[in-house]
Amino acid sequence: MHFFGYKGSELYAEDVPVRQLAEKYGTPLYVYSYRTIERHFRAYDEAYKAFPHIICYALKANTNGAILKVLAKNGGGADIVSGGELYRALRAGIPSEKIVYAGVGKTEEEIRFALTARVLMFNVESEDELREIDRVAGTMRRKAPIALRINPDINPQTHPYISTGLKENKFGIPIEDALENYRLASRLRHVRIVGVHKHIGSQITKLSPFVDAMKRVLSLVDELKRRKFDIRYLDIGGGLGIPYLDENPPVPEDLAKGLLPLVNGRKLTLVMEPGRSIVGNAGILVTKTLYLKKGGGKDYVIVDAGMNDLMRPSLYGAYHHIVPVVKTGRAKITADIVGPICESGDFLAKKRQIGRVKRGEYLAVMSAGAYGMSMSSNYNSRPSPAEVLVKGKTHSLIRERGTYEGLVRDEKVPGYLR
Ligand code: LLP
Repeated sequence: MHFFGYKGSELYAEDVPVRQLAEKYGTPLYVYSYRTIERHFRAYDEAYKAFPHIICYALKANTNGAILKVLAKNGGGADIVSGGELYRALRAGIPSEKIVYAGVGKTEEEIRFALTARVLMFNVESEDELREIDRVAGTMRRKAPIALRINPDINPQTHPYISTGLKENKFGIPIEDALENYRLASRLRHVRIVGVHKHIGSQITKLSPFVDAMKRVLSLVDELKRRKFDIRYLDIGGGLGIPYLDENPPVPEDLAKGLLPLVNGRKLTLVMEPGRSIVGNAGILVTKTLYLKKGGGKDYVIVDAGMNDLMRPSLYGAYHHIVPVVKTGRAKITADIVGPICESGDFLAKKRQIGRVKRGEYLAVMSAGAYGMSMSSNYNSRPSPAEVLVKGKTHSLIRERGTYEGLVRDEKVPGYLR
């Protein structure tokens, strides 16, 4: 569910015509809907209200500070994977006791930062990392709260690049080695065991992988509790999919209905880390048609947004709906919708049926709120797109368009070249 839709022939973001935004702020432009973000967050909060829980939004999906503030205001926590994300989460006012820290490659500097900030827990992904956290915490005379990220060996039935809970993936500690690692953790003097973590993948559109993974992890939790490990938090990760084309994924309420009966009766706080399902459908990428051309028997629509602005189609062959910002009723053509980047992999859509467009007309790439801007780059020295947040009739610039000066700001020229 989202608040983008047509009124007459014009696409609106909440109560604002998208064309007006494109004219005012230029393109490529990311446009987000406040009410959609809030609605998705609240859907989670409502679904789990019968059980103690913390919703730790996965920052990696979209890190814009204004969006983080919307979530902070609604009581959201954060799932982070780097010092940079910790910095952003704190800056947006997300309380550190609601921040969980995952990732297979935490550096000493990042561990120190997280200990200083007093995050809720480190989701530890290997024995080596566990020992390093213990060492660093020791030098700071701290005890680091930890959960072990368990790899439950469940197939999430999603794209191989975003599947993480299979034993051949680099993530987490194999479930069969979990007990031994918890025993080790209990002997280390500067860590304190507080939880168990799992995350099996992203864009999961079925309930069963979540249920199967939960059952596996709960049997570990029960075993750990029997052995008197103090497990207070069960972090079930993120991963709920959204409809891009014709998928019909469960909604947070369905997920809660599947999972809560399994955990019932246990003394635990559930932590969850949704990213895409909060912001994915809350954002669109608006782009302008630059040129039309034919070649090799194909039609091309060349637009001003490229793979550097939204890399999901190029990287995963991901599908995003692309719709006109103003409907024209013209006949359909089948075209490749491509960006200006000098790579054949630079496309937003291939063989797409779309109403004939003319130069200067705007298109909207839908469901671009998650892993759009956050995965963008300045490849081909293209300044970053601007970002706008719409709330009702109000629209606010939440990130200025990048500049040429910005592209070179951090570069240095050695003295001998000056
Ligand atoms: N927690 C952990 C430990 C994660 O690794 C991730 C995502 C999440 C939570 C949030 O998952 P979500 O609810 O958003 O599915 N760039 C890819 C997605 C990569 C996901 C990486 N990890 C894409 O554009 O599809």
